Amino acid sequence: MEISAIWAVGLCLFLARHGIEAEASYPSCRNLQSNPTEQPYRTAYHFQPPKNWMNGPMYYNGVYHLFYQYNPYAAVWGNITWAHSISYDLVNWVHLDHALNPTDPFDINGCWTGSATILPGEEPVIIYTGADTQNRQVQNMAVPKNISDPLLREWIKSPRNPLMSPTNGIDANNFRDPTTAWQGPDKVWRIIVGSLINDHGTALLYRSRDFVNWTKSQTPLHSSNKTGMWECPDFYPVSTRTGVETSVQNADTQHVLKASFNGNDYYIIGKYVPETDTYLVETDFLDAGSDLRYDYGEFYASKTFFDAAKKRRILWAWIQESDSSSADIEKGWSGLQSIPRSVLLDQTGRQLVQWPIKEIEELRENQVTLLNKEVRGGSVLEVPGITASQVDVEVSFDFPHFKEAEVLDPSWVDPQLLCTQKNASVKGSIGPFGLLVLASKDLTEQTAIFFHIFKTHNKKYVVLMCSDQSRSSVRQDVDKTSYGAFVDIDPLREKISLRGLIDHSIVESFGGEGRSCITARVYPELAINKEAHLYVFNNGTQSVKISRLDAWSMKKAEIVPTNRRRNSHFN
Ligand SMILES: *[C@@H]1O[C@H](CO)[C@@H](O)[C@H](O)[C@H]1NC(C)=O
Ligand SMILES: *[C@@H]1O[C@H](CO)[C@@H](O)[C@H](O)[C@H]1NC(C)=O
Ligand SMILES: *[C@@H]1O[C@H](CO)[C@@H](O)[C@H](O)[C@H]1NC(C)=O
Ligand SMILES: *[C@@H]1O[C@H](CO)[C@@H](O)[C@H](O)[C@H]1NC(C)=O
Ligand SMILES: *[C@@H]1O[C@H](CO)[C@@H](O)[C@H](O)[C@H]1NC(C)=O
Ligand SMILES: *[C@@H]1O[C@H](CO)[C@@H](O)[C@H](O)[C@H]1NC(C)=O
Repeated sequence: MEISAIWAVGLCLFLARHGIEAEASYPSCRNLQSNPTEQPYRTAYHFQPPKNWMNGPMYYNGVYHLFYQYNPYAAVWGNITWAHSISYDLVNWVHLDHALNPTDPFDINGCWTGSATILPGEEPVIIYTGADTQNRQVQNMAVPKNISDPLLREWIKSPRNPLMSPTNGIDANNFRDPTTAWQGPDKVWRIIVGSLINDHGTALLYRSRDFVNWTKSQTPLHSSNKTGMWECPDFYPVSTRTGVETSVQNADTQHVLKASFNGNDYYIIGKYVPETDTYLVETDFLDAGSDLRYDYGEFYASKTFFDAAKKRRILWAWIQESDSSSADIEKGWSGLQSIPRSVLLDQTGRQLVQWPIKEIEELRENQVTLLNKEVRGGSVLEVPGITASQVDVEVSFDFPHFKEAEVLDPSWVDPQLLCTQKNASVKGSIGPFGLLVLASKDLTEQTAIFFHIFKTHNKKYVVLMCSDQSRSSVRQDVDKTSYGAFVDIDPLREKISLRGLIDHSIVESFGGEGRSCITARVYPELAINKEAHLYVFNNGTQSVKISRLDAWSMKKAEIVPTNRRRNSHFN
């Protein structure tokens, strides 16, 4: 993982999590723990330790495990440990003791990101990056101390560590984030590690028969001269129907290679040939006209894992703050996890589709539905009767008359730039239309998630999706960057749908049934808690019709230390 990420104070929540009465010794902790109105940005149903990013999620023996990076001693990045939380449903979580601490020569300067693999015989193994005594990045292994403990509370590091060292031209500062391993038909295990070799972002390939003795392949699995260092690479099979276990490979599957760089998680789709360990792609990272990202907003260092119980592949990511680090320190925490998403290959084979896991729907209450409502150009319609600061909303739009889409200039190739220029206030023909979330009553504050439809010179429709933060807060000192993506749908053939998961300071948007996703962090000052509203708006000249809208207030998830749980099934 990138070590430049700055993390804010986590001390109070750390103490609270360990059942230590923090109020006495740290007076400022009281507000954090007890008064939600003083914490308008703290989320209610997103996994949120004080600071975190994705490490090695896995499903084992009926339990979901999340390991994440954590500094127990200070308000800044450092002393990185593997914190550990478990869940039975990926929604409610219990924090356990740390799984790994930086205590050995091969990880004394930090236990950094890694991945879990479940070996035959239901044996989980972790491979992670350690920063050693010389601050070199090396790859280490750990296994559960007691395999009969379903919560896998304690882990022991291999006496053979480090298993992989930065030798033979590998830069010791750019050698990290091993993936989950997969096994080829030859029974040999393979792992990739992110690197930067001769200015190529690189997925170094290692092989092993016994999981302990790893040999580097002469040729990497893949590399690119258009990118920097690849952080948190991920490599896995996908199909259009169900999730696929990491070692599976057949005529139905394609392979996804993801790399984190330039602040985003980019992916490519291709065919993997295990006999030769070659990966064949038609379109590579940052090829002209191609820009596949899991999410076009704030979403980094993601990982997937295969959920064997439900036959699905789950993706989630670390969502950073976009507020200043001094604000982070003041509020006492920084960063959270996206809602886990299940990932499939789209029917077209050209991209992935992502959808929030079904379990999150358990938190829905007080459904509000709107049917067949026309929204005329220039109008705004409130969705009443919900807690708009904490909501799940699904809407689909169609058009009473579909005509006069504006012409898309061939030079408008950058959707983010287009969303910045054609924001929610710039009137168009078909669009902008969509939702105003975390909006104040008078609309002074609003985050507009909207679509705008254009027509190309050769008469094809292009759907632009935007997340416009330009009016998200009356505060001047927060980042208000807008995000944009094109959505691969034909508006003549299908409705244009949008789902929004809104949780105080995060807005996760899924356009076209998960074909384009945008996550934004927003920090309203007026539209907080009960003062937040949800609207549908249309600032185009053409009418649009809400074919159907459903919105639900979302209950709070239970995310607690072991000794605070309400629910005894975590024993
Ligand atoms: C790391 O932990 C040690 C105590 O074990 C502490 O002295 C040091 O300040 C910590 N460093 C950071 C950056 O947190
Ligand atoms: C291992 O875990 C099981 C199940 O929790 C427990 O019964 C057993 O006592 C543990 N063994 C050791 C050596 O801790
Ligand atoms: C490790 O594996 C390589 C390649 O299979 C082999 O040549 C080497 O002898 C092995 N080393 C040990 C210590 O087992
Ligand atoms: C990357 O490599 C390709 C093929 O070898 C070459 O055509 C291209 O100029 C290189 N690009 C950069 C930025 O070095
Ligand atoms: C919206 O875009 C227009 C035209 O690009 C610009 O003049 C205006 O300032 C933008 N509005 C906001 C709130 O950024
Ligand atoms: C619609 O456009 C008008 C004029 O540009 C602007 O004042 C208004 O704020 C826009 N509505 C929304 C919901 O952005």
